[in-house]
Amino acid sequence: MNNNYIPYGKQDINQADIDAVIDVLKSDFLTQGPKVPAFEQAIKDYCDVKYAVAVNSATSALHIACLALGLGKGDWLWTTPITFVASANCGLYCGANIDFVDVDPVTYNLSVSKLEEKLIKAEKDGKLPKIVVPVHLCGQSCEMDKIHALSKKYGFAIIEDASHTIGGKYQNKKIGDCRYSDITIFSFHPVKIITTAEGGVATTNNPILAEKMELFRSHGITRNENQMTHQPDGAWYYQQIELGFNYRMTELQAALGESQMTRLDEFVQQRHILAKRYDELLKDLPITLPWQHPDTYSGLHLYVIRLKLDQISKSHKEVFDALRAKNIGVNLHYIPVHTQPYYQKLGFKQGDFPNAEQYYKEAISIPMFSKMTFEEQDYVVATLKEILCD
Ligand SMILES: Cc1ncc(COP(=O)(O)O)c(C=O)c1O
Repeated sequence: MNNNYIPYGKQDINQADIDAVIDVLKSDFLTQGPKVPAFEQAIKDYCDVKYAVAVNSATSALHIACLALGLGKGDWLWTTPITFVASANCGLYCGANIDFVDVDPVTYNLSVSKLEEKLIKAEKDGKLPKIVVPVHLCGQSCEMDKIHALSKKYGFAIIEDASHTIGGKYQNKKIGDCRYSDITIFSFHPVKIITTAEGGVATTNNPILAEKMELFRSHGITRNENQMTHQPDGAWYYQQIELGFNYRMTELQAALGESQMTRLDEFVQQRHILAKRYDELLKDLPITLPWQHPDTYSGLHLYVIRLKLDQISKSHKEVFDALRAKNIGVNLHYIPVHTQPYYQKLGFKQGDFPNAEQYYKEAISIPMFSKMTFEEQDYVVATLKEILCD
């Protein structure tokens, strides 16, 4: 028995990260100083993208992305049901309607064929979406070239929810470069690939979208006289020209993020080593292992297995509980969003998205984080074997 709890994910903080945060604490700026732009620059350089707007969470990034794209009442935002609620809630914040596109049964990402079917019908009904939010589940990119081609045909904007994916690639280019989207967002929650405690960023190549997102992150206030309705009254002057929020990232968070960025590739490589080991060690068990599309290099935020329930004597819940009882912090990503009570009140029903619902009945996220030792991994594998095969 392993007495140490093994979480499904956790941060990897070293002395350089700690020193970077302490330096900020000793500096003149705890917020609105030089660290946020420096962190944004690190993201831009890494992702090869023109603009990056850092905020206090990926949820905020999704919200300002929707606002910048002009989402409002009467519009539709579509996303996948297998995601965290934030990918859909951002549309509701703007007063828009939400709908979902069922997942691909192999990648668990939004299915391109289902998207196309739904677009054909929506065009006839006059209900085409204004925004589609593909989510790169577990760190694996959606088929962005195809989704992008559909966006051109049907006229919707794309926000990539890459909360799981910083450091990942699609067709050999960094996710976040917005080659196939208007905006990409990342999350820096501690379970993610790099962390700023709480935090997020939105990237784009479009200067107008970048300018709008900067406004929405800070009350809709500008100090740029080119954006003002008249010449500034004086050096103190600012104008509120939009209804924005306080979604700013602090200097402490940005310093941590900037320091974490220097080890991002290392973190993702380590996750790949662990995933390869899992692939090998788990291959004979009655489970489906993650499948990687050849166009993708996953950020590997999560390693999700699916139980072959017809080949084992235990239920999904029994396997899950048995792992937790052995100090393994498994989790389930995600409960299909359309089955949440809030979304059921909006009219969604069980049975609406069968692939997503089937996935939910079988999926378990097993531990995956850069600091995980092979010993911990061997314990997870041995425990899983024992539970599935006894
Ligand atoms: C797919 C996805 N989107 C959005 C979010 C929201 O991220 P944050 O916690 O940074 O607001 C998460 C966080 O878990 C997520 O997994």
